[in-house]
Amino acid sequence: MSTKKIAVLTSGGDAPGMNAAVRAVVRTAISFGMEVYAVRHGYNGLLTGEVEKMDLRSVSNIIQRGGTALLTARSPEYNTPAGVKKAADKCREMGIDGVVVVGGDGSFRGARDLTGAGIPCIGIPGTIDNDIACTDYTIGYDTAMNTAMEMIDKIRETTESHDRCNVVEVMGRRCGDIALNTGIAVGAISTLVPEVEYDFEKDVIERIKKAQETGKHHFIVVVAEGIGHVEEICKKIEAATGIESRVTILGHVQRGGSPTVHDRVVASRMGYYAVELLRDGKSNRVLAMKGEDIIDLDITEALDMPRVFDEKLYKISMELSR
Ligand code: F6P
Repeated sequence: MSTKKIAVLTSGGDAPGMNAAVRAVVRTAISFGMEVYAVRHGYNGLLTGEVEKMDLRSVSNIIQRGGTALLTARSPEYNTPAGVKKAADKCREMGIDGVVVVGGDGSFRGARDLTGAGIPCIGIPGTIDNDIACTDYTIGYDTAMNTAMEMIDKIRETTESHDRCNVVEVMGRRCGDIALNTGIAVGAISTLVPEVEYDFEKDVIERIKKAQETGKHHFIVVVAEGIGHVEEICKKIEAATGIESRVTILGHVQRGGSPTVHDRVVASRMGYYAVELLRDGKSNRVLAMKGEDIIDLDITEALDMPRVFDEKLYKISMELSR
């Protein structure tokens, strides 16, 4: 039997820990006697032939680095049936008979389509947002939350010094998980997430006023990106409470930085598991964390799963911040 040749790519938004996953894929493949290739710039690299053979040393010194050493991109050309066919043909030309894709939902749709065009794919969830329904955890999420927490701890010091309120926007377009957990960790007086409808007067203004009555004089409000209009929220707080208020949008700082232990270990485990699946002839699978376990699911089924928001944790966050 010919040697199995596999490729690995990162796609969509980068996330800390993607490098650890790539390293694990490369080293596992080599230890299983496979040839392994890195594709640069996501699916685009399959179309343009940005593909390079990897050896053990190709992934040295990347486990501790944020971003993705393979680079990433969004590829409008790949997102067409002709693009998918072209990518599959390129894989066949190069003899690549399996691809590991590290990314989010959009990347998994790409993996499902490439599998449909005859190239077996395995997805590894990598995005800071934790917005993939099938898994409890996505690579990069822990690092992003810790970055947001550290930044808000710094903001808190100046906020306290001036008796102010600071409205901090954290990332998460459709998903409030970063906001929820960071809000708890920094003791935000209120946390607004896209999953929970809020009453501005009751959930923000009244909470601040009640805390003022008990002697609190500085406030952090955490707002998920998906809620938007933080400037307006800030102005309304200042007008209703008389507290001088500022806005901070943390933005892409949350996407960078050296991955935490948790992200490096989960990424390493998932990289290993993904190559095991390809070795065993599996295809169209996505990895997911359920508690501390890693499992694999059919990509198509996983993409159809509804996301569940942790309502209980949200309740706890609001109960504790007073
Ligand atoms: O998916 C991760 C994420 O950082 C989101 O939180 C954010 O909405 C989006 O990517 C921003 O993407 P970009 O600036 O790369 O287009």
